[in-house]
Amino acid sequence: MQRATAKIEMDAYTPEVAARTAHLYERVKRVVPAIEWPVFAPDIDAILELKRRRNAVVLAHNYQTPEIFNTIADIVGDSLALAREAAKVEADVIVLCGVHFMAETAKLMNPGKVVLIPDPLAGCSLAESITAADVRALKARYPGVPVVTYVNTSAAVKAESDICCTSGNAVAVVESLGVDRVIFIPDEFLAKNVAAQTRVEIIPWQGRCEVHERFTPADIATLRAQHPGIQVLAHPECDRPVVEAADFAGSTAAMQKWVADRQPAQVALITECSMSDNVALANPAVEFVRPCNLCPHMKRITLPKIRRALETMSVEVHVAPDVAARARLAVERMVAVGAPR
Ligand code: 13P
Ligand code: SF4
Repeated sequence: MQRATAKIEMDAYTPEVAARTAHLYERVKRVVPAIEWPVFAPDIDAILELKRRRNAVVLAHNYQTPEIFNTIADIVGDSLALAREAAKVEADVIVLCGVHFMAETAKLMNPGKVVLIPDPLAGCSLAESITAADVRALKARYPGVPVVTYVNTSAAVKAESDICCTSGNAVAVVESLGVDRVIFIPDEFLAKNVAAQTRVEIIPWQGRCEVHERFTPADIATLRAQHPGIQVLAHPECDRPVVEAADFAGSTAAMQKWVADRQPAQVALITECSMSDNVALANPAVEFVRPCNLCPHMKRITLPKIRRALETMSVEVHVAPDVAARARLAVERMVAVGAPR
């Protein structure tokens, strides 16, 4: 009897594919080994064609791997930029290469578009740390105190909130409300870092980013001992002592800008791993030391899954209309607050 064997189909890296993608390899060759390119190129080639056929744009977060971020993405950035840019998309389809809350936010900002996420299981430990019922309980406990909600939350949680923020604009958002105290959810470390920059009293929640909570001040001390003169930049989802030990703290976009503007000889980004690859490609004169942690959720997004999303037009992100209307208000209020700080 003949046994059926499972066969994993992989497209050939033909001379035609090699020729069509050669200019893209030039962009990433400093961080993608030549031996890996024949694995990536056929999917990249297919995705570029599918984007044309589906009239789709790819939005990619700064934590996406370099072969995604630098070859097939039309718009890249931090959470704030992706939310803003999603609202302006005119194409029919948005493929969100990032985690689920980012795809939901894109849908909220541009409800008429088809928003696809290549892997719907790409979650976030912060988004999972709080439910809409938790927010209602907080509001009952602190009546009249406005709720400022980090975008790393579900649409249902945003719908219970007065206004959203990202790490790029959290202080400006808190201060825009003109009140003495706010409920700030769900990241307790971001809450501490915001509290250190404002007189507004912050009532926090106990959520944490599973990637950034692992960094310690001792990591930074070791870096400085091993690399005298190194500049250390940390994401504000790190605990307060880590941020205090760093030379600069800011959103992924703020870190990127800091490096681009100052061109330090040597830098370490205390954040997710792909960020260093992407910022390094844009800043060839800067040496990156990489004490990073991987975000397992961001890493669920891969080229084969992006290709499948465009082939099958799934998985589409939907938000229930009543939730969407309220959540959209909170995101739009944030966007109206203005330039990131
Ligand atoms: P940014 O808004 O800084 O891009 O951060 C998003 C995020 O998930 C960080 O962990
Ligand atoms: Fe969420 Fe942290 Fe991953 Fe960002 S890095 S998506 S906050 S788990």
